[in-house]
Amino acid sequence: MPRPRVLSGVQPTGALHLGNWLGAIRNWVELQDTHDTYVCVVDLHAITVPHDPSQLAADTRSTAALYLACGMDPKRCSIFIQSQVAAHSELCWLLNCVTPLNWLERMIQFKEKSVKQGDNVSVGLLDYPVLMAADILLYDADLVPVGEDQKQHLELARDIAQQRINARFGSKENPVLNVPKPLILKEGARVMSLTDGRSKMSKSDPNEGSRITLLDPPELITKKIKRAKTDPERGLEFGNPDRPETDNLLGLYAILSGQGRDSVATQCADMGWGQFKPLLAEAAVAALEPIQGRYKELIDHPEELDLVLEQGRQKAEAVANATLNRVRQALGFASRT
Ligand code: AMP
Ligand code: TRP
Repeated sequence: MPRPRVLSGVQPTGALHLGNWLGAIRNWVELQDTHDTYVCVVDLHAITVPHDPSQLAADTRSTAALYLACGMDPKRCSIFIQSQVAAHSELCWLLNCVTPLNWLERMIQFKEKSVKQGDNVSVGLLDYPVLMAADILLYDADLVPVGEDQKQHLELARDIAQQRINARFGSKENPVLNVPKPLILKEGARVMSLTDGRSKMSKSDPNEGSRITLLDPPELITKKIKRAKTDPERGLEFGNPDRPETDNLLGLYAILSGQGRDSVATQCADMGWGQFKPLLAEAAVAALEPIQGRYKELIDHPEELDLVLEQGRQKAEAVANATLNRVRQALGFASRT
């Protein structure tokens, strides 16, 4: 029995934060032992909003280094750069031609991002979910571990595969594409901003105090937690809708300290913020310390990362090209001799 296949990715836009780690990457690390795991740095997605060409390559490598630093092991998974496997762009085009425009216009992330872009919205931003579908479908992925915010994009990838490709160009016995499922773990699926418990922690929030990045030094982590928004009540609890910041900070503490929700709920039930915040800061610093150490080694010795990415590219390309050929054939293109 082949192991079920997993594919996921993160954009190399700005420093990865606790949300990316706890919502996505941490789950990949677990999956690589039991699943055939592919993870990429989705640099083609990063240019769907205005970007700085002098930073793109460095940000891409830095993101890949963080995958490794967080525990992705090239012996157990394939790590590659999306733009280096041309099949992603090609399948995206084929899928574009069968995807209804109104499916894309109703994507929540598109609506949110396009409001921020004003009159500078590119076709690429609208097309972003189709490229993401191509990423996933090329690898016949069974499971796609992502944070809650990507659920709608996953539904779209399933609809494209099922309704637009398999139903039209395949048969029941011989589907062209595998239909993937999202894997969204409850804990960490939605890490909220430190300055507003009702909006998610995000790379694009102009306020840097709203997020803790994986490379923040200990003093900065402590400072950001000290300034994090709280409420005047004493005692911490989960699930009170009027106290979203409390729920978020306590949830972070449960994961980062490794103690779990029940234990921290009891421990912090009567605690004041002055006592809790240093505990949370200490847990965050300790959890990130090994990641930061490993990251520095990788960036100081680029040959190791180069090799990992080249091996990852070769493995990814073999799988991706096979799927692409299947789709080309199903759509009736002249075959290459
Ligand atoms: P992005 O930063 O948009 O490239 O997202 C990369 C991955 O991190 C995706 O799987 C997201 O669902 C996940 N993610 C991003 N922000 C958060 C957050 N605040 N909480 C949980 N997961 C997140
Ligand atoms: N859109 C995803 C995000 O912002 C990133 C992404 C691109 C992705 N392609 C993917 C995630 C394929 C999972 C699988 O989080």
